[in-house]
Amino acid sequence: MTLQATTLPPLRCACSRASRDDQSAPDESGTLKIEGVSKRFKIDQGEIKVLDQIDLTVAPGEFISLIGISGCGKTTLLRLIAGLETSYEGTISIDGKRIDRPSLDRGVVFQEPRLLPWLTVEENVAFGLTGKDRKRNRAIAREHIDLVGLKGFEKFYPAQLSGGMAQRAAIARALVNRPGILLLDEPLGALDALTRIRMQKELLNIWRREKIAMVMITHDVEEAIYLGDKVVIMSSKPGRIRKVIPVGVPRPRDRDNPEFIRIKDEILGEFNLL
Ligand SMILES: Nc1ncnc2c1ncn2[C@@H]1O[C@H](COP(=O)(O)OP(=O)(O)OP(=O)(O)O)[C@@H](O)[C@H]1O
Ligand SMILES: [Mg+2]
Repeated sequence: MTLQATTLPPLRCACSRASRDDQSAPDESGTLKIEGVSKRFKIDQGEIKVLDQIDLTVAPGEFISLIGISGCGKTTLLRLIAGLETSYEGTISIDGKRIDRPSLDRGVVFQEPRLLPWLTVEENVAFGLTGKDRKRNRAIAREHIDLVGLKGFEKFYPAQLSGGMAQRAAIARALVNRPGILLLDEPLGALDALTRIRMQKELLNIWRREKIAMVMITHDVEEAIYLGDKVVIMSSKPGRIRKVIPVGVPRPRDRDNPEFIRIKDEILGEFNLL
């Protein structure tokens, strides 16, 4: 099985993307803005405030790692960005347009792959494609299956895949409509340590290749630093943004780099873990 992203034919639509190598003025289209966002849930005894005054901007092509203790509201925030949850205070917008529903422009990958068990990998990946041309859909699905390193497993069913392979298929499915932003909720959380490190490298390759913004929740401090342009640290009860740490270490990042270690210590210090 190949683990490298392969060269893709130009099958897809030309969406506006900020190129990582582009030295011209940055293209701001596709900027995600979260402004003053608070979220309450109704519970038996009344209401709980889960998110409080969240402000965050995600530039096109930016990789944001989101880290915080269990229950601080990370998934809730991701669901708001995805448009899966629409009642909140404040504004979440892309290019000034308020998010009020899910959109193909925002792909979502959950902690568990959520593949349809009765469909093959290829059918699962093609499932979200809206075009009616089956041959073209199949070509697009295969292109993305290659991208995540699953070439040769197109006809496998989810039950025949390992956890890492199933998660790759889920990532391919989320990318297939060429979203401008990919939202990942602990996508590698269920994987063993070695597969996880390999998948981190692959996610980095996909991000570089696709030039899309990614917002990834993780509980793994090294993973957050390895991948993110910024690590956003959340505090809890209610969930707030406590600190945003820019990561200036050149990619691919060496975990023994002194700056990498310094950032790791800074994050652990925020959680009183040093
Ligand atoms: N639909 C809901 N109704 C009521 N409370 C909810 C609902 N969804 C989430 N909550 C509460 O909101 C808080 C934040 O939940 P959320 O799932 O966003 O946390 P999280 O940071 O993703 O945690 P974890 O790291 O464990 O996944 C929790 O206290 C949770 O109980
Ligand atoms: Mg969560």
